[in-house]
Amino acid sequence: MIKTEIIKIDEKKIDNQDEYEIKKLHKAAEIIKNGGLVVFPTETVYGLGANALDETAVKKIYEAKGRPSDNPLIVHAANPEDIYKYAEVSEIADKIIKKFMPAPLTLVLKKKSHELNAACKLDTVAIRVPKNNTARKLIELAGVPVAAPSANLSGKPSPTNAEHIIKDLNGKVEMIISGENCEIGLESTVISFDSDENINILRSGYITREDLYSVGARIARPQNSDNPGPPENPPSPGMKYAHYSPDAPLYILSGEEKNIVGFIKKEIYNNKKTGFLCYDEFLNYFDGNENIAIISIGAKNNPEEQAKNLFDALNKFNMLEVDIIYSAEPEKTGVGEAIYNRLVKASGGKIIKL
Ligand code: TXA
Ligand code: MG
Repeated sequence: MIKTEIIKIDEKKIDNQDEYEIKKLHKAAEIIKNGGLVVFPTETVYGLGANALDETAVKKIYEAKGRPSDNPLIVHAANPEDIYKYAEVSEIADKIIKKFMPAPLTLVLKKKSHELNAACKLDTVAIRVPKNNTARKLIELAGVPVAAPSANLSGKPSPTNAEHIIKDLNGKVEMIISGENCEIGLESTVISFDSDENINILRSGYITREDLYSVGARIARPQNSDNPGPPENPPSPGMKYAHYSPDAPLYILSGEEKNIVGFIKKEIYNNKKTGFLCYDEFLNYFDGNENIAIISIGAKNNPEEQAKNLFDALNKFNMLEVDIIYSAEPEKTGVGEAIYNRLVKASGGKIIKL
């Protein structure tokens, strides 16, 4: 057990470049420089960071998360210019960096040297420049690239606030920076490039395929990361592992609203503790007294709001210790594609057609 220091940061003050608040990040930066682990907020989800150039430090991330050793880490840089130091940037990648970065977007690019081997042994590296100022300031102060996966135990839902993290990582990391709830709530979109400069979406996210089309990108093939099962020869090593699983089994309910409501109403008389993850529209059908935990993640037509609340809802069901979770199927357009992807993975592909 290590002693974990939890510090509170007012991220709005960091946004306003408040010197006193920024000073609080110096200690966290020192920990990273000295080979320790720091949990920090980003705009997507909280990250579990270490010096990406330090093999021993990076190993500690894998131990703390229980992460399979062949699943590489994303390297976080403070500024878009840094990407060019570490990786070869093609024409279309350059356009994407100029248009979006800093952003909830990760680019898988060819490495320029072996410098980042601790984070990723492949000849590519996944790099991202977070938009969140606390994250950027921390990386800048550390003066090294920061390897950081999501700050959850391997296979569990990603954390979008510090409360989610303490239970799992207290005693395993030197410091937890407790900031705001993550603005976006879903992990970054991960893309790679093939030899013809086509883009592969390895993980959907807040930056959508429509966003990528807007810079003239061609998307190589239909995104296949919705498949709950492991693809053969996965283009991203992480695809072959189970993800985002809440403690209770989760089923997606697909069908008309009234059929879903009918199904859930029947469930109320079951003596299991049931969780229902849904959209605001569904709340009208229930009076709040039922023997069921209902969590709405937002309006049906507002995937950005849903993204922000999705992992928090899955983590809440864990805290409520429900026996089973049903989720209404989201709309799959825009950011909805990423919501659907996370839910399909969380359910392990268990979809009930009603
Ligand atoms: O929003 C995010 O991306 C968060 C925050 C903390 O930045 N990080 C995150 O990291 O989600 P993680 O480790 O949970 O997910 C990284 C994904 C994994 O699926 C991994 O397999 C993939 O990126 N990946 C990493 N390096 C890769 C590479 N060189 N080629 C293909 N996929 C890679
Ligand atoms: Mg993760």
